[in-house]
Amino acid sequence: MSFRIERLTLEHLNGAATVLVRAYSGPPWNENWSLEAAVENVNTVLETPKSIALAAFDGGKVLGIALGIRQRRHAGPVVYLDELSVLPEAQGAGIGTALLSAVFETAKAEGCNSVWLVSQREGALSTFYQRCGFAIGSNLGLYSKSSA
Ligand SMILES: CC(C)(COP(=O)(O)OP(=O)(O)OC[C@H]1O[C@@H](n2cnc3c(N)ncnc32)[C@H](O)[C@@H]1OP(=O)(O)O)[C@@H](O)C(=O)NCCC(=O)NCCS
Repeated sequence: MSFRIERLTLEHLNGAATVLVRAYSGPPWNENWSLEAAVENVNTVLETPKSIALAAFDGGKVLGIALGIRQRRHAGPVVYLDELSVLPEAQGAGIGTALLSAVFETAKAEGCNSVWLVSQREGALSTFYQRCGFAIGSNLGLYSKSSA
């Protein structure tokens, strides 16, 4: 499958949101995203200063997205990868790997020497990230508190 990776802009907001909706509709997530919620999610990153929002395109069609937010830490700036997703029919063709690599290289070029993300500890996703050179942390847990 041929694709090119470019910066994501508002012009392709709907295409990017569609990728998110469709990528999470199946296993292991089975999430029911509305297009409106996905548009807001993607737009929030696009509106964040110095964010790294990339997309894989086939012509004008968005096949995959990678959304990173720049954060300042004690040791310097890092990028938190908030989103990585690829259309189901385009998965398994190297797009996710290429997007991840492009985020890392873009971050490096912009002075961020580290990229971090949250994902499943085990299974295909864990294998995917580790194969892409990401090490899994051993000590940290994910905490959340909900009002409903
Ligand atoms: C994870 C994801 C971005 C990978 O993108 P991709 O373009 O399929 O990635 P690549 O083609 O570069 O690599 C494929 C590898 O991803 C892994 N993978 C993880 N979940 C997968 C899925 N649902 N479908 C296909 N491959 C998947 C496999 O290990 C696969 O390895 P293989 O080719 O040896 O089978 C994509 O599968 C996706 O959008 N999944 C749903 C959303 C998601 O889970 N995002 C990450 C949240 S932390």
